[in-house]
Amino acid sequence: MTAGGAEQPVAIRGADVRVQRGEKTILRGVTLSARSGEVLGVLGPSGAGKSTLFQSLVGEIAVSGGRIELLGEDVTELPLWARARRGLSYVPQTPSVLWDLTVRDNLATYHRVVHGRATASAVSVAVARLAERVALDDRLDVRAGELSGGERRRLELARALTRPPRVLVCDEPFAGVDPQQASRLGDMLRALARDDGVCVVLADHHVEEALRVCTRAVLLLDGEVAAEAEPSAFREHPLVVGRYLGSWARTIPPPPPQP
Ligand SMILES: Nc1ncnc2c1ncn2[C@@H]1O[C@H](COP(=O)(O)OP(=O)(O)OP(=O)(O)O)[C@@H](O)[C@H]1O
Ligand SMILES: [Mg+2]
Repeated sequence: MTAGGAEQPVAIRGADVRVQRGEKTILRGVTLSARSGEVLGVLGPSGAGKSTLFQSLVGEIAVSGGRIELLGEDVTELPLWARARRGLSYVPQTPSVLWDLTVRDNLATYHRVVHGRATASAVSVAVARLAERVALDDRLDVRAGELSGGERRRLELARALTRPPRVLVCDEPFAGVDPQQASRLGDMLRALARDDGVCVVLADHHVEEALRVCTRAVLLLDGEVAAEAEPSAFREHPLVVGRYLGSWARTIPPPPPQP
C-alpha cells in the first residue's frame, strides 16, 4: 500500500475549523486533511492550538465554526462516541489509563466496552493480541500506575487500537518517552499507516521523531496553518525556523527516506 498516496481517499478533513473559548479565539479557521495510509504531523509551538484542533476533530469539544469530515461524511455535529464508532480513535495528550487496574484488566475493560458481550476466552485472546502488538505482553499483570511513561503510552495506544481504527489521532505520543521507546512507538505508528492503511494524525515536540515517522507535516501557529511541507523540507522552512525551532532546526538530521 502506498503511504498516503494521492490515490488514497481523504480520511479526515477539517475545513475552516474555528474554536472560541470565552473571549479567546483559539483556532482561526484551520483547514487540513489527511489520507488513508498517511501520517500527518501537526507541529508547532506550545499554545498554537494543536490539542484544541485534535479535540475538535475527535468531537471532545464543539467547534464554533467550520466543518469536520470523517471518511467523506460530515461529522461536525456528531459526538465523540459516534465518531469513534465510525473508526476514529484518539490518544489524548493527558494520561488516560485506568491506573489501579493491571494492563490485562485495562485492555479487557476496553475490549468489553467496545465489543460488548464476549466470552472470557475471546477477551483473553484479544487482550493477548493487543498486548503483543504494543510489546506489553510481558507486562500484563503490572498495574497501569506502575508502568513507565513509555509503557503507559503504549497501553494508551493499545486502547486506541481496540476497535481497529481508520483514523488515529495521537496527541504527543512520544512525550515522556525515552528515545529508544519513542522510536519503537514511531515504528508502530508508521506500520499502522503503511501496512493497515490507517490515517495517523499526530502532534509532538519530539520533532526529529515526528518527522521521521510522518509523511507530511503542517506548522500550526496561533491557531492557523502557517506552512505545510514534506518532512525533509519542514525543518528548513523559514517559518518553522523563525517561529518554532530556531537555529536548532539545522541540527535535526534529514529524515531517512520512507520505505
Ligand atoms: N479549556 C480552555 N479554556 C481556555 N483556553 C484554553 C483551554 N484549553 C486551551 N486553551 C488555550 O488555547 C490555546 C491553545 O492550547 P492547546 O492546548 O490547544 O495548545 P497546544 O498547541 O496543544 O500546546 P502544547 O504544545 O503545549 O500541548 C492556549 O493558549 C491555551 O491556553
Ligand atoms: Mg497540546
